[in-house]
Amino acid sequence: MAFSFISATTILPLFFITALLMVSPLATPAAARDSVKSGQWLNSGESLENAGYSFTMMQNCTIVLSDSNKKTIWWATAKYLDSGCILKLQHDGNLVMYNSIDSLWSSRTNRNTWKIYYLILRADHNVVINDEDNNTIWETDTSSSP
Ligand SMILES: *[C@@H]1O[C@H](CO)[C@@H](O)[C@H](O)[C@H]1NC(C)=O
Ligand SMILES: *[C@@H]1O[C@H](CO)[C@@H](O)[C@H](O)[C@H]1NC(C)=O
Repeated sequence: MAFSFISATTILPLFFITALLMVSPLATPAAARDSVKSGQWLNSGESLENAGYSFTMMQNCTIVLSDSNKKTIWWATAKYLDSGCILKLQHDGNLVMYNSIDSLWSSRTNRNTWKIYYLILRADHNVVINDEDNNTIWETDTSSSP
C-alpha cells in the first residue's frame, strides 16, 4: 500500500536519526551557564563559567572561583568537611550550601520578601547576587582591575 510504504520510509529513518543524536558523543553539549535564577542550584561538581573563569561547587563542599589557569581567586569553605553538597540560590535571596541534612555555608543575604534573584559570574570575574531590579546584594568583590 502506498500509504504504509511512505510512512515506513520517511518516519523510520527519522526515528533512527533522532536516536543517534540522543546517544551521539558528537551532539552539541549544553552551553555553559554563567548564572542561576532563584529556585535553582549548582550540583556537586557543577560550575558557572564566563570568560575563562569558573565558579564551582566543589565535590568536597568548598566553593571555588578560579581563573583560566585554575588558580584560585576566591573560595569559601563549609563549617565542616563533607562531600556532595549543592549550592542553592533561594527565593529569599540567600545563597546556601546544603548537604543532605544541614546548611554548611551561606551568603547571609536572606530577605523577608520573596523576589527573583540571580547569581551571576560576570565577565569581569565578579560573582554577584542581583535582585530583579539589578541591585547587587552580595558579591565576591573579585572584578578584574584594569
Ligand atoms: C577541596 O578540594 C579542592 C580541589 O581539589 C582543594 O584545593 C581544597 O584544598 C579542598 N578543600 C578542603 C577543605 O579539603
Ligand atoms: C538588568 O540587567 C540586564 C543585563 O544587563 C538587563 O538586560 C535588564 O534589562 C536589567 N533589568 C533592569 C530591571 O534594569
